[in-house]
Amino acid sequence: MWKRIFKDSPPLEAKEALGNPLYQGIDRERLPVHTALIMDGNGRWAEGRGLLRTAGHSAGVDALKQILKVAIDLELPALTVYAFSTENWKRPSAEVDFLMRLFVDYLTKEIDEMDEDNIKLRFLGRMDELSPALQDLARTAVNRMADNTGLRFNVAMNYGGQDEILRATREIARRVQAGETPLDAVDENLFESCLYTDGLPPVDLVIRTSGDMRLSNFLLWQAAYAEFWFTDKNWPDFTPALFIEALKDFGKRGRRFGGLTNK
Ligand code: IPE
Ligand code: IPE
Ligand code: MG
Repeated sequence: MWKRIFKDSPPLEAKEALGNPLYQGIDRERLPVHTALIMDGNGRWAEGRGLLRTAGHSAGVDALKQILKVAIDLELPALTVYAFSTENWKRPSAEVDFLMRLFVDYLTKEIDEMDEDNIKLRFLGRMDELSPALQDLARTAVNRMADNTGLRFNVAMNYGGQDEILRATREIARRVQAGETPLDAVDENLFESCLYTDGLPPVDLVIRTSGDMRLSNFLLWQAAYAEFWFTDKNWPDFTPALFIEALKDFGKRGRRFGGLTNK
């Protein structure tokens, strides 16, 4: 179902946008199938400019819009972004409230364009703990884009990798206990089907901005064989050119998946 990395890919569309000099030198056969972005450093970006941290979050939305356009132009199959972690509730309530309002605004303003761009939206995380307004908007947006066939755009919102793994474990334990699933049937495929990312391919590339080199509880299972790419730039300064640099770097990596030959 998914384009396999590096080989047997279906022919890519000859899009007009690809004439853009920005895209020169990209080997589209060697792009990641599933890219994950840890959009970090909004606060530091703002503080460095004498602004409130919240201004950094607003600037971060603009950066994301530009990156989405690149993903669409290059026909990346799947992009997952870390918007809010299960640990981010530890922040001052004013910042959390601002972020929640920003997500509502973003969805309200961007839904039409995302739909026109044939994006298929999904949320990963404990959505039931968010405000009813945000939950409604998210549901409406997801339903509206349900039949779209373009970029699979996944927003990790109130997401934690450990929480996701525990949730899957509990669901599987419940099924085994209820006699619905024999213990022997618990394998990787079954486990993956109980994760938020059910049906999505594994993560090939994790990009993190702002100089920190950690996963911060993001896609722990899915990134098992991911390549990592870090930059010191803060998220609002993450430009399409930097994204392309990361993608080109990924194309040069040898991936062995435990074997001896590069894939
Ligand atoms: C990432 O930027 C955005 C969210 C976590 C929502 P930060 O807010 O973490 O910015 P820094 O890392 O404090 O600079
Ligand atoms: C990770 O960034 C979460 C998001 C980008 C949404 P954090 O800023 O929360 O991560 P830590 O606290 O530096 O590990
Ligand atoms: Mg941070």
